[in-house]
Amino acid sequence: MLEARELVKNFPTPSGPLAVLKGISLTLERGDALSIMGPSGGGKSTLLFVLGGLDKPSSGVVELDGKNPFALNDKAVAAFRNEKIGFVFQDHCLLPQCNVLENVLAPTLVAPPGAHRERAEALLDQVGLKDRLTHRPAELSGGEKQRVAIARALILDPALLLCDEPTGNLDSETAEPVASLLLDLEARSERILVVVTHSDALASRFPKRMELKGGVLL
Ligand SMILES: Nc1ncnc2c1ncn2[C@@H]1O[C@H](COP(=O)(O)OP(=O)(O)O)[C@@H](O)[C@H]1O
Ligand SMILES: [Mg+2]
Repeated sequence: MLEARELVKNFPTPSGPLAVLKGISLTLERGDALSIMGPSGGGKSTLLFVLGGLDKPSSGVVELDGKNPFALNDKAVAAFRNEKIGFVFQDHCLLPQCNVLENVLAPTLVAPPGAHRERAEALLDQVGLKDRLTHRPAELSGGEKQRVAIARALILDPALLLCDEPTGNLDSETAEPVASLLLDLEARSERILVVVTHSDALASRFPKRMELKGGVLL
């Protein structure tokens, strides 16, 4: 279960604190898939970063499966994120010098070599890239790169998958199958999926929908 209670996030600016999140509360159970829409600059990325333990809230609590990432020390929070949370960003954020298979295995580098290879290949099969294992990101299209990023985010079977504008850099023809893939993978899992987007086409496909506006969730 993912629980957020009264999350507030202020950023300091020269003209005083900028209130981006103004008291966000949210409860999601395993298997839930939520889209959050909102205008650019509305705090969508900030909210995902806070939910994912990447950025500390000014106040409020986040708990994933009963654990508050911000109560952990830096090393423990990194391990917690790696084990429990997968991220997909707008820009695929793949390692350019590594091939597709190596990119998907990147989060597992602390594990014994080879331990995750089968799962990586199975995931790359599921995202339709089984025959591209040794290609570098530069040799892939935008949609293919996002598929690799999705496989990488799922390699350690996270409890929570957070996607920040996952189709934001794709044209609508490429975005559609990436969105279908995310929802299809989600439907076959016990994971919580949260996607933030300003695309109505993407958001409308989710069983749960919310809007982030003026720092609050509606
Ligand atoms: N580290 C930061 N320092 C100061 N302001 C920030 C920082 N990160 C984001 N902001 C501001 O917070 C607001 C929300 O940003 P963001 O969460 O990226 O919005 P969105 O993802 O919805 O476009 C914006 O006004 C942005 O300029
Ligand atoms: Mg953003």
